[in-house]
Amino acid sequence: MKVFVPPIKSQGIKTKLVDWISKNMQTLKYERWVEPFMGTGVVAFNVQPKKALLCDSNPHLITFYKALQSGEITSGLVRKFLTEEGKKLLISNGEYYYEVRKRFNSEKNPLDFLFLSRSCFNGMMRFNKKGGFNVPFCKKPNRFAQALITKITNQVENISQIISFGDYTFKNQDFKETLKEINSTDFIYSDPPYIGRHVDYFDSWSEKEEIILNKGLINSNAQFILSTWLSNKYRTNDYVFSVWKECFITTKEHFYHVGGSVNNRNAVYEALLSNIKLNDSISNSEMKSRIELNKSQLTSEKKYDIPAQLLFSID
Ligand SMILES: C[S@@+](CC[C@H](N)C(=O)[O-])C[C@H]1O[C@@H](n2cnc3c(N)ncnc32)[C@H](O)[C@@H]1O
Repeated sequence: MKVFVPPIKSQGIKTKLVDWISKNMQTLKYERWVEPFMGTGVVAFNVQPKKALLCDSNPHLITFYKALQSGEITSGLVRKFLTEEGKKLLISNGEYYYEVRKRFNSEKNPLDFLFLSRSCFNGMMRFNKKGGFNVPFCKKPNRFAQALITKITNQVENISQIISFGDYTFKNQDFKETLKEINSTDFIYSDPPYIGRHVDYFDSWSEKEEIILNKGLINSNAQFILSTWLSNKYRTNDYVFSVWKECFITTKEHFYHVGGSVNNRNAVYEALLSNIKLNDSISNSEMKSRIELNKSQLTSEKKYDIPAQLLFSID
């Protein structure tokens, strides 16, 4: 599957999982696609539903995509902006990054947001308590070389086209507001900050929010999928077997790099929880018993040896 990559980066981005998520929901029928936590939007922009409500509590993401939708930001404008600003970055030996960051934190310009997202350390999205973007520079003064500018310009062009073909609404709001707008004919793809893991998003996430989200999704009577994690090298996400115990589950092993080092690869079992049976999902109780009984099968489709980190006991 060709994946359309959005121009904005974020540590929670699902680019590597889009194929798996789309395959799992190919046969589902719904009137509107809803994301209470759209982030970079990579999932919606690849599923490409006809109609969508895409929301996030981070105002800068929503402002950026609204600007693409209205035509205020075009690929041509992005090319011109990054070429000019990229030159200033190079001449200043990187110091200009901090001028743009300061400017963005006072003026909130979506083009500056794109500049920062593509030249900050590791493409991270992090804000201080006052809402100021505070990620340091990636330390590459020649960051906006011609090849990268062309790549970003193409990403802006592709995503702008996808947005223009659909009936999409972008809203800057808390997930509790989005839950109030859900109809039973909607399909909800819910990708909240991962509970129990270090998060650096616009807002924090705790058990209280996880429970509100669970109740809201269940009571909506809409079909939903929730992305979360099942386990990593050190821990297991017990909320999968408590808060989400009514849900079907399918898992996938995913590797991500820490600090850019090839040797520093951490495996995480990603999970899709749903109130409907997906192509390769199993019931929550079945997953629980497979883990308890140390069976070598985590999903109905793929067969794994149980990794050491999953050998835990559930009360
Ligand atoms: C895991 S990321 C979503 C990633 C997205 N699926 C992607 O692939 O880019 C979680 C998102 O939830 C947003 N968020 C955090 N707390 C929120 C809240 N209370 N209401 C709505 N959005 C929230 C963050 O700003 C972040 O964009």
